[in-house]
Amino acid sequence: MDVHLTIHGRHDLAGQLYRQLRTAILDGRLVPGERLPSTRDLALQIGVSRKTTLDVFERLIAEGYLRPRAGSGTFVAEATEGLRTRTPAASPAVQLASPTPPARTFDTPWNNMPAVLPMPRANIVYDFVGGVTEKRLFPFDVWRRCVAHALRQQARGRGGYHDPAGDQALRLAISRYLAFSRAVVCAWADIVVTHGAQQAIDLIARVLVRTGDTVAIEDPGYPPARIALQALGANVVPVPVDAEGLIVDALPKHAKLVYVTPSHQFPLGMPMSLARRAQLLDWAQRHDALIVEDDYDSEFRFDGRPMESLKSLDAAGCVAYVGTFSKTIFPELRIGYVVPPASLVAPLRHAKQVADWHSESLMQAALAKFMLDGDFSKYLRRMHKEYAARRNALLRHLRGPLAPWLAPVPSAAGIHMAAQLQTPLPEAELVKLAERVGVGLYGTARMYVARPPQPGLLIGYGHVNVAEIDTGLGKLAELLATVAT
Ligand SMILES: Cc1ncc(COP(=O)(O)O)c(C=O)c1O
Repeated sequence: MDVHLTIHGRHDLAGQLYRQLRTAILDGRLVPGERLPSTRDLALQIGVSRKTTLDVFERLIAEGYLRPRAGSGTFVAEATEGLRTRTPAASPAVQLASPTPPARTFDTPWNNMPAVLPMPRANIVYDFVGGVTEKRLFPFDVWRRCVAHALRQQARGRGGYHDPAGDQALRLAISRYLAFSRAVVCAWADIVVTHGAQQAIDLIARVLVRTGDTVAIEDPGYPPARIALQALGANVVPVPVDAEGLIVDALPKHAKLVYVTPSHQFPLGMPMSLARRAQLLDWAQRHDALIVEDDYDSEFRFDGRPMESLKSLDAAGCVAYVGTFSKTIFPELRIGYVVPPASLVAPLRHAKQVADWHSESLMQAALAKFMLDGDFSKYLRRMHKEYAARRNALLRHLRGPLAPWLAPVPSAAGIHMAAQLQTPLPEAELVKLAERVGVGLYGTARMYVARPPQPGLLIGYGHVNVAEIDTGLGKLAELLATVAT
């Protein structure tokens, strides 16, 4: 029940309570079917006797406002639906309720902050949304055992706050995984576990960036990272990318932090060339800047040898490596991590503690078991095959029937692909057309900041299997052939 009840003085307690509940029902703050607290709890909550609340409930039941249900409580009667048109002013109870304070507008930069990313849409059958993984193939039976194990561990624990930097077993599992898969050599103590990559980016910025400091991001780039930096009052400078990734020569001289996605540029997808990586590391060292390397989906690499991460090439200690389980498992797990330069481990640990003490310990312990038992690697191998098949299917359509309208941007990793529009049809128009045949497409224009947007799409394949890709894109090609050239 989300209604504030106030009792004034000690006079006519039952009458005051009766009128406030009745008014709340009549003006719709208590809706039909809503469960009321028990008479005992309500009496305790507002400081009256149980007999008072019992009397009031009986009266409201007798008048038809409330309905008791044996064994499950007292509810607002469905029949009150039709009464709600009465204006509350007609009710004598209104005089009792305290006047609503005038709505006050607080001045905050968040009032004008741009939206983060589009959410998946409901009326779509074939949804090519980015940032979503395939849950239908996730081994929930194994995961359930891991969670049960973590729960048993937690039940035996002492209770209280844990290490802000995260569960030790999970950090150990991550350090082993990074050494093996990304050639990032670190000890468990060098890792800070966060609520996803997003919190890692936010915390890094909090410990390093002051209002007015210059920071650089890729253009086009990842809106949530840009917004996190803007929200801290940084002077966010968009730096263009080309086929080799961020153009290092275009970096502003005084940038304190440079945010990049070198494995799979977001949203376009090309990897940063080795030459550009070396140039960026050299630049950061000379300018005393921190590079934030967001390695968000490099696990799924389909062509060629994995490119070395910036972190593994970083001899000078100027890279904070950010990883996440949002692409390998699923985003609602909200587990990510950062391997910062050694001098930033303690400040980040402190900042994490001030932000939220630590990430939720049950899921961290479950994930540690999932990784240390080898189930994570097994799952990654399986998903690698699955996503490779989906990527091939997508390329078949883009290079085949959809070629007159869309051209894929070459990329070698990840679970989304970008495609550029080959037609004068505006991006938003194409997205709208696709919806007619149940296909969810998402444009990239909104990810450009200073450069003129190149009309294109970010095509995620985490949520559509090969059969769905074939059917959805088949329908799209048929439709486009009839309406657009
Ligand atoms: C560039 C980039 N970084 C990071 C993430 C994942 O963020 P998080 O770990 O906060 O879910 C995404 C997800 O879409 C992404 O596209």
